[in-house]
Amino acid sequence: MDSFEGKLAVVTGGGSGMGRELVRQLAAQGCSVAACDLNADSVAAAAAIARGDAPPGTRVTAHTCDVSDEAQVLRFRDELLEQHASDHVDLVFSNAGIGGAGSFVSGSREEWERTFAIDWWGVYYCARAFLPLLIASGDGVLVNTSSVNGFWATLGPGMPNSAYSTAKFAVKGFSEALVEDLRSNAPQVRVAVVMPGHVGTDIVVNTLRAHGLPEPERMTDAQVTELIPAEMVPEGASPGDLRRLLAQANADFRDKAPLSAAEAAAIILDGVRSGSWRILVGEDAKKLDAAVRAKPEAAYEYAQLGSWPDTVPGAEPRER
Ligand SMILES: NC(=O)c1ccc[n+]([C@@H]2O[C@H](COP(=O)([O-])OP(=O)(O)OC[C@H]3O[C@@H](n4cnc5c(N)ncnc54)[C@H](O)[C@@H]3O)[C@@H](O)[C@H]2O)c1
Repeated sequence: MDSFEGKLAVVTGGGSGMGRELVRQLAAQGCSVAACDLNADSVAAAAAIARGDAPPGTRVTAHTCDVSDEAQVLRFRDELLEQHASDHVDLVFSNAGIGGAGSFVSGSREEWERTFAIDWWGVYYCARAFLPLLIASGDGVLVNTSSVNGFWATLGPGMPNSAYSTAKFAVKGFSEALVEDLRSNAPQVRVAVVMPGHVGTDIVVNTLRAHGLPEPERMTDAQVTELIPAEMVPEGASPGDLRRLLAQANADFRDKAPLSAAEAAAIILDGVRSGSWRILVGEDAKKLDAAVRAKPEAAYEYAQLGSWPDTVPGAEPRER
């Protein structure tokens, strides 16, 4: 696929971050887009911005859908085919995802299963719903977003990331399994798996929202106290301090990342255009991938693994 012009793309989680940028950049390149999100307002705003950048004849539609609910995914599919007057889609970006549920041992089961349902079942239901339409395209690409947590199952010392990593490993395994399956059974479709490192987005607050919580500033004392593990609470911190800490954590995650959402989306689109099936996004992702492959036994011995200060969050910097 040399160009996205004249194609029809589906983007899940199109209301924010990398999804919003994929919608905007695809539309700017003359690709019609059907974007969905859990958050109706944000996806409507993203579609409006994308229309502003799009050449005439490019159609961008916004849909509300929770990808962890198969009935909603099927309704989204039917809605977009009708609105785009199409019997196929050319590209599917299964990008929607949330974090949360770090500990399997001490965290809430409900939160664990919500994270896993969005990050894994959302990708699975979209593949089930859209694969026949990618086959009908004659030249389809399924692009599943995993993460560096799809090959490295932690956020560093003291920061387990169990539900997210389990789901992202599944997304990576499923996508890799499809490489040969598609080659054997539907050669007109290919698959790519995206593994971003740290990208500056609002995933921290969007994760809270997907778990039914308000923005940090509007949380009750009980909500904020329950959310932050006791061992991470600074001594003497009040609930007001914790609200500020959380808001700052979201701002830092977004504003201090080595890569912006726009840069990440451009890397993803370049990878898809070039035919790559394995798209690492960011130098941190490339370094971590190389480090884990070089020393698999040391994957969770952070000091041994991290030869760069930025490779492993929380690891002691060692010489380059
Ligand atoms: N930001 C990073 O550093 C990073 C790193 C690795 C992987 N990723 C992955 O990249 C993808 C995009 O993340 P982002 O950082 O742009 O996050 P983001 O929060 O900015 O965007 C994700 C969007 O998905 C939507 N969403 C959440 N649950 C949904 C559901 N059930 N149905 C439909 N939409 C839903 C959110 O409302 C949000 O608009 C995710 O899969 C994430 O896990 C992000």
